[in-house]
Amino acid sequence: MLFNVYNLMEIEPVEANGCWLCDRNGEAYLDLYGGHAVISIGHSHPRYVERLTRQLQKIGFYSNSVINPLQEELAARIEELSGCAGYNLFLCNSGAEANENALKLASFVTGRAAVLACRASFHGRTSAAVAVTDQPAIQAPLNKAHAVSFIDLDDIPALAAALATREYAAVIVEGIQGVGGIRVPSPAFLRAARAACDASGTLLLLDEVQSGHGRSGEFFAFQHAGIQPDIISMAKGMGNGFPVAGILIRGSIPAREGMLGSTFGGNHLACTAALAVLEVIERERLVERAAALGKWLARELRAEPGVIEVRGQGLMIGVDLDIPQAIFRRQLLRDYRILTGYSGHNTLRLLPPLTVSREELALFMESFRATTRLITKEDHELHGH
Ligand SMILES: Cc1ncc(COP(=O)(O)O)c(C=O)c1O
Repeated sequence: MLFNVYNLMEIEPVEANGCWLCDRNGEAYLDLYGGHAVISIGHSHPRYVERLTRQLQKIGFYSNSVINPLQEELAARIEELSGCAGYNLFLCNSGAEANENALKLASFVTGRAAVLACRASFHGRTSAAVAVTDQPAIQAPLNKAHAVSFIDLDDIPALAAALATREYAAVIVEGIQGVGGIRVPSPAFLRAARAACDASGTLLLLDEVQSGHGRSGEFFAFQHAGIQPDIISMAKGMGNGFPVAGILIRGSIPAREGMLGSTFGGNHLACTAALAVLEVIERERLVERAAALGKWLARELRAEPGVIEVRGQGLMIGVDLDIPQAIFRRQLLRDYRILTGYSGHNTLRLLPPLTVSREELALFMESFRATTRLITKEDHELHGH
């Protein structure tokens, strides 16, 4: 038996291609959820399959006790494609682990233990990562010993007042809050965080686990604000489903042997998956596509009755509905075979593969309108007007 911790959608995919999943009955589903923002270059992209297959036939894994030039190549390619020059790369396996290492490194560097985080944040489930996550329900007593304070996203006076104490090792902010409902920090807030960190010897950590790798229409979402963080964490879209994650660390932060480590981190297959993703992002201009298609989709959604607010950047979009998202999503899945994500009670979360086409998004919009009509009609019938 499985340890039952997940709430499952009514679908069992057995194959996937591009933006489509196929279940065991051969029914096709349009994937606007991307396995939780993980599928960046589309399911089973031919170049990804080819590179991983070839690598697997040569060498799949060796630990970090040997020379692995794929890691150097990956560090150089990320710098090149992201435009973040002068950062060094540490590789690990998941988003939580990336943030855990970022927080630990900030603590090593500053000699301080406290961390400032934002309300409605989500940074993962390991000890320090979950402590800076604003969800008491997923924190065990073990996690509550960390020194963490929370401020509202965009509250510049609270940020400045906290950092002026010079007690904080780090401020951690999501490039775009995902679980919190697709909330984009204002450029003014990120710039104020940069300035306050510089003034107080605090490190600025940007969690780009969900918003990174082109999803926001820039390689990293913080680039919309023109700032440079001290540490950037990456995961989900980085490997298109292969578990690979990492942190980019400003060159001024010195490494010390044994400071961080991971058995699986940066193995041959993981690096190959991450390199294949970067190759496809570049070749297919996926960052630019995400910006353009995201703008179009947000505009279409804003014109819909029943839509209260649309938030986000690029292909990371939150839609506040005037009805519970659970009802809407169930209908979309059952009647139109479309997968979507959610946040809270009323927010639909759209995280499609960055390879999604305008036609696929138009198909979604048609189904969105039909679902709205259907639910409104049912509601009217139910209430007898
Ligand atoms: C912004 C952010 N950080 C960290 C995580 C944790 O990533 P993982 O589940 O790979 O540990 C998530 C996962 O949803 C996330 O959205």
